[in-house]
Amino acid sequence: MIIVLNNKSNLSKDEFLDYQEQLKDISSIHNLVLCPTLLNINLFNLNNFNLGAQNVSCYDDGQYTGEVSARDLYDSNVRYTIVGHSERRKYQKETNEEINKKIKKLIENDIKPILCIGETKEERDSNKVEEVIKTEILEATKNIAKEDVEKIIIAYEPIWSIGTGVIPTIEEIDNVNNMIKSILPRNIILYGGSANEKNVDILNESSTIAGFLLGGLSLKPEEFKIFIEKLKSVN
Ligand code: 13P
Repeated sequence: MIIVLNNKSNLSKDEFLDYQEQLKDISSIHNLVLCPTLLNINLFNLNNFNLGAQNVSCYDDGQYTGEVSARDLYDSNVRYTIVGHSERRKYQKETNEEINKKIKKLIENDIKPILCIGETKEERDSNKVEEVIKTEILEATKNIAKEDVEKIIIAYEPIWSIGTGVIPTIEEIDNVNNMIKSILPRNIILYGGSANEKNVDILNESSTIAGFLLGGLSLKPEEFKIFIEKLKSVN
């Protein structure tokens, strides 16, 4: 499995250095990826994790104030990057078109994109899940070669589950993951949204989840250790 820790906009420099001390002794058969804030990326110093970023510019280096290019992320040892997180879609008004450009830049620079998709509660209640998932995938992967599309890691994150403590049923997760597989049969699919050391036993029952994208739990090293110990070894 691939377990991705998304620190979001948390951990000052000193907090991050202390946090790394707490993560450094974790050993796992799973592929662990840490996505710190942009400023903490160059403080990353763990041998047991791969390094990820939470965002990337849709442009190359140049006259783009405030942006960080995929080339510069790669140069700082970033090998994975989250794109299209629902918080960026909401607060930065990020569009599927921009997400598509970002994915292209990441692939050009040998960084694995982690594409977040997922529906709101209103969209679920009005039976729009399939439409939302399909549109987000098709627009994000537009004009990208099939062999490159297969490099994209998909993170199914139902928006109503992020930070709420509520998780979908396994049937709901597997249904959506099967929709994703009908479009992208070979891609790895992660689950994200309130996953923690208490509900991991339930999440282990899914036959389609191949890893997790963790927000709140990423900030709790002790609970995170319990989570990965309880995680099933297959998938
Ligand atoms: P929580 O695990 O805090 O619900 O966040 C999930 C998420 O948004 C990870 O990207």
